[in-house]
Amino acid sequence: MKLAKHLLAMPIAVGISAQTFSDVLSDPNAALELLNSYLAGEEALFALLSTAKDITVLAPSNEALYRLENDEAMIARFAADPGMMGAFLKYHVFSGVWYSSSFTAAKSPVTFVPTMLNDTAFTNVTGGQRVKARAKNGEVVLYSGMLTQTPIRSANYNFSGGTIHIIDRVLTIPANITDTLVSANLTAAAGALKVAKMAQGIGQGNQVTVLAPDNDAFNAIGKVIGAMSTADLAAVMGYHVIPGQALYSDMIKNGSTETTTTQNEAVLFRVEDGAIFVNGARVIQTDILFDNGVIHMLDGVLNPQNTSAAPNPTAATQAPAFSGAGTTNGVPFTSGIGTPTSAGPTATVTDLGPLPVAGAPVPLRTGAVRAALLFGGAAMFVNA
Ligand SMILES: *[C@@H]1O[C@H](CO)[C@@H](O)[C@H](O)[C@H]1NC(C)=O
Ligand SMILES: *[C@@H]1O[C@H](CO)[C@@H](O)[C@H](O)[C@H]1NC(C)=O
Ligand SMILES: *[C@@H]1O[C@H](CO)[C@@H](O)[C@H](O)[C@H]1NC(C)=O
Ligand SMILES: *[C@@H]1O[C@H](CO)[C@@H](O)[C@H](O)[C@H]1NC(C)=O
Ligand SMILES: *[C@@H]1O[C@H](CO)[C@@H](O)[C@H](O)[C@H]1NC(C)=O
Ligand SMILES: *[C@@H]1O[C@H](CO)[C@@H](O)[C@H](O)[C@H]1NC(C)=O
Ligand SMILES: *[C@@H]1O[C@H](CO)[C@@H](O)[C@H](O)[C@H]1NC(C)=O
Repeated sequence: MKLAKHLLAMPIAVGISAQTFSDVLSDPNAALELLNSYLAGEEALFALLSTAKDITVLAPSNEALYRLENDEAMIARFAADPGMMGAFLKYHVFSGVWYSSSFTAAKSPVTFVPTMLNDTAFTNVTGGQRVKARAKNGEVVLYSGMLTQTPIRSANYNFSGGTIHIIDRVLTIPANITDTLVSANLTAAAGALKVAKMAQGIGQGNQVTVLAPDNDAFNAIGKVIGAMSTADLAAVMGYHVIPGQALYSDMIKNGSTETTTTQNEAVLFRVEDGAIFVNGARVIQTDILFDNGVIHMLDGVLNPQNTSAAPNPTAATQAPAFSGAGTTNGVPFTSGIGTPTSAGPTATVTDLGPLPVAGAPVPLRTGAVRAALLFGGAAMFVNA
């Protein structure tokens, strides 16, 4: 009952609404019939949520649950790991009350919101795995694992413990380093970490930041890096790992240096006109969340023996930090690593894509197997 105890022990900081969690679930305006039916009879969970203080619940709409029910990969993940549903539910609960007004571009363009998911089986991010929230054009979009984008459709259904936001696509729990890199098509980085025997250890017992060059970056120096000894490759890849901290983009300051795992050699961050650079490489995608921290994608491979490499911020591409650059036949380290699936997360925010079964209405299901998965998970949430 760790979570329950924690929730019950929290000071009463809100209490502005007399509505209970269950009142909101049955509010016709909220249109949460499917969630309501899934959780029917879950008295312990309702009791927990009705007495909880200082939380924000992301409630999946009928559409979100319908998509989830038809997402065979997710269902398989739940079936394979009995702890997954409990973790999934916890990831949908933020620590603290975050009204939609907490996320305005004026306050901060992005916010990394801590969630209740802190079980070490799923994350070693201190203070709970994060969700990235971004306010843009009056809309709040949440980014979770595999860069899944989830708009908040309807916000601020206040209840006694805080507030509830309704979402049309469920969040993805950040996966491990390898699966996350592959999903972002960073297959050379995934392969190089594997060859250097570093993938398994990344973030064990501690949060980390991983700087991941894209495949073109590895390809550009294929001749050099493909021929390295395992020890040299490990030194290069270790120079891409910042131990002990999840350095989200909003924490990166111009001129800051961060120690890496390679010989305590540091990398230098620059922020020029909103673009982030590490040594001589440009960050081309920030904040890819994974189980033990955060990944930033680079357009170049960093060289621990060329720490003075510097960018040309106005140029579209940067010079490689390795001399003797040149490609080989095929991107190094990618064989046997797999390829990304182009599933849901790549869809744009406003277009979540068609429903899995064309034209199907959203049915109220009582399918025994799937309901059991959810109910079982709900029980784990309460008993965790
Ligand atoms: C997870 O959070 C709960 C509530 O704050 C806390 O009691 C527990 O010790 C945390 N677990 C870890 C592994 O940090
Ligand atoms: C919920 O509470 C917040 C903070 O008091 C308030 O701004 C918001 O309007 C409330 N939501 C509704 C639907 O009343
Ligand atoms: C992934 O990277 C490879 C280069 O290694 C490229 O050919 C391919 O188009 C990329 N795939 C996607 C989905 O971006
Ligand atoms: C990542 O998870 C996959 C299963 O999704 C597993 O096969 C793989 O061994 C894991 N890799 C690491 C480095 O933990
Ligand atoms: C977190 O660290 C613990 C202790 O090293 C480890 O057992 C666990 O597998 C790690 N969790 C993840 C998600 O890597
Ligand atoms: C950013 O940091 C770099 C490296 O320390 C420095 O050369 C540059 O002048 C800084 N830029 C700004 C705008 O402060
Ligand atoms: C160091 O990196 C710069 C690019 O930032 C490159 O021009 C230079 O050739 C590199 N030096 C060595 C010794 O690799």
